[in-house]
Amino acid sequence: MLDALGDPQSVLVLGGTSEIALATIKEMPRNRLRRVLLAGRSSESLDLAVAQLQALNISGVEAIEFDAKNTETHGGIIDAAFDGSDIDIVILAFGLLGDQMTAEADPTHAVEIATVNYTGSVSAGLHVARRLKKQGHGALVVLSSVAGDRARRTNFVYGSTKAGLDAFAQGLDAALAGTGAHVLIVRPGFVRTRMTSHLPEAPMTTNPEDVAKIIVTALKKGKSAVYAPGPLRFVMAGLKALPKPIFRKLPN
Ligand SMILES: NC(=O)c1ccc[n+]([C@@H]2O[C@H](COP(=O)([O-])OP(=O)(O)OC[C@H]3O[C@@H](n4cnc5c(N)ncnc54)[C@H](OP(=O)(O)O)[C@@H]3O)[C@@H](O)[C@H]2O)c1
Repeated sequence: MLDALGDPQSVLVLGGTSEIALATIKEMPRNRLRRVLLAGRSSESLDLAVAQLQALNISGVEAIEFDAKNTETHGGIIDAAFDGSDIDIVILAFGLLGDQMTAEADPTHAVEIATVNYTGSVSAGLHVARRLKKQGHGALVVLSSVAGDRARRTNFVYGSTKAGLDAFAQGLDAALAGTGAHVLIVRPGFVRTRMTSHLPEAPMTTNPEDVAKIIVTALKKGKSAVYAPGPLRFVMAGLKALPKPIFRKLPN
């Protein structure tokens, strides 16, 4: 349960090594956290993420095995996490940017991006919603992207998976209405993480810590969707309204 100050005591991260998710945990009041589950593929990075949080004196940090592509395992993993104790916040943070040109040349790469970002999220999201509904409180934070707002030549495979994920998350929030649980959709622009470290920065680039602050504030306020940074909401509204010939002339 959120404590008297509205701060979370237990968090489950799906995509436990995500730099945005880890920054979000670090942004939460540390002395309130009692249980942090980092669910991800077994790796040195996952062990390092656990050690990093433990070094900050965050208690109850554990790694659990989770692969977004193995959808048949999701129900058992999510049930086991919730059976341990109530979970206040679930962060759905896994995602694959992939490479657009590789995806066009080899559709199996496109299918992998779609499987992780969309199919995996639909599966995990529905299992999480089932348990949040049962416990009658809690929030699912979904890391969507501005890339889903309007398809661009340079990353439309990734963008289309985020558009699907975003629509799914909006519907899931509607399905949870009145249960005590809700969904927070986060639409970041370009964030400096290992996912984007090989790319030139875009306008309004942020750091994971900036996105984390926006997420923690939005959770406290019970919001259902936020852009990161906030003014991107207006930029994207403008871009969505642009006629196609003009939109296609913009740097992409
Ligand atoms: N960085 C940006 O500019 C940006 C912008 C908008 C939205 N986002 C979204 O924000 C989320 C977090 O990204 P990030 O920036 O924090 O990047 P990140 O540090 O690279 O995190 C990506 C996460 O996805 C996990 N993942 C990938 N495939 C997986 C699979 N099959 N099963 C389980 N986990 C898997 C990775 O785990 P491994 O350690 O096992 O690889 C990692 O934990 C993603 O959904 C991303 O699309 C990022």
